[in-house]
Amino acid sequence: HTPDPYTSIRTEVPVPGVGLIRLERPKALNALNQAVQAEVLAAASAFDTDPEIGAIVVTGSERAFAAGADIAEMAALDYSDTERLFDGWDRLAQLGTPLVAAVSGYALGGGCELAMLCDVLIAADTAVFGQPEINLGILPGIGGSQRLAHAVGKAKAMDLVLTGRTMDVHEAERAGLVSRIVPATDLLDEAVAVAATIASKSKPAVLAAKQAVNRAFETGLTEGVRFERALFRGRFATMDRAEGMAAFLEKREPRFTDR
Ligand code: CAA
Repeated sequence: HTPDPYTSIRTEVPVPGVGLIRLERPKALNALNQAVQAEVLAAASAFDTDPEIGAIVVTGSERAFAAGADIAEMAALDYSDTERLFDGWDRLAQLGTPLVAAVSGYALGGGCELAMLCDVLIAADTAVFGQPEINLGILPGIGGSQRLAHAVGKAKAMDLVLTGRTMDVHEAERAGLVSRIVPATDLLDEAVAVAATIASKSKPAVLAAKQAVNRAFETGLTEGVRFERALFRGRFATMDRAEGMAAFLEKREPRFTDR
């Protein structure tokens, strides 16, 4: 792995198949400025097109996953500056490779939104979630009002977005925002293990499965099931489907070739 060209993140490949992106602006609690956005997208896109990488972990520090969009940077913007302000985050959400968020400490505003646009959310028992934008006279801008409402329902989404209060990790897990809670000391190991498990599967099957679940957020049931069925049938054109089923019947581990 070559040295990072980045200033606000660090990347590594902690185990084969897994790309790790670590937000690193400790003095600003990893506030998401334009540099962080561009660098996370660049790093994630590079992992996404790397045939050796099957899942990407996004993490912050122990104290903060990310405390939101960078308020100092946003304070200087006017209306016309905001048109494409968060395009990079939208593009991140469109990548095929699954994203695993490993969240410790504050995941507020844009930080909560970044965690929610990931596919699997592993949270330390120290994690705190919230959309406090209302306290700044704004509202969530990286999809938070939509993804939070989908994840936790209207009652809690309204409570959080309108009052700006935070919720601890247990409330977040009960509400459906969090995939798993782990002790803070195990967070990265667990997230990397989850990512490695995903990376061990057939890549085209993982991509289809991610697209199918995501479609549940975009469409109604009949249309969603139709979409799933087409993706399901598409697997029967792949070698990995034949290999996966043969391996099961022969009581051995599958050897996927991503074909
Ligand atoms: N943007 C810029 N700087 C931030 C920041 C942010 N979102 N969050 C924290 N910082 C900076 C602080 O200004 C402070 O810098 P200095 O040491 O230079 O003063 C440093 O990080 C440490 O923060 P605190 O001293 O405030 O630490 P704390 O432990 O007392 O409080 C906190 C922690 C509760 C997270 C508090 O920092 C806080 O409330 N942060 C802002 C949270 C927020 O409002 N997020 C939403 C941003 S808007 C948004 O995200 C829009 C969107 O949808 C895209």
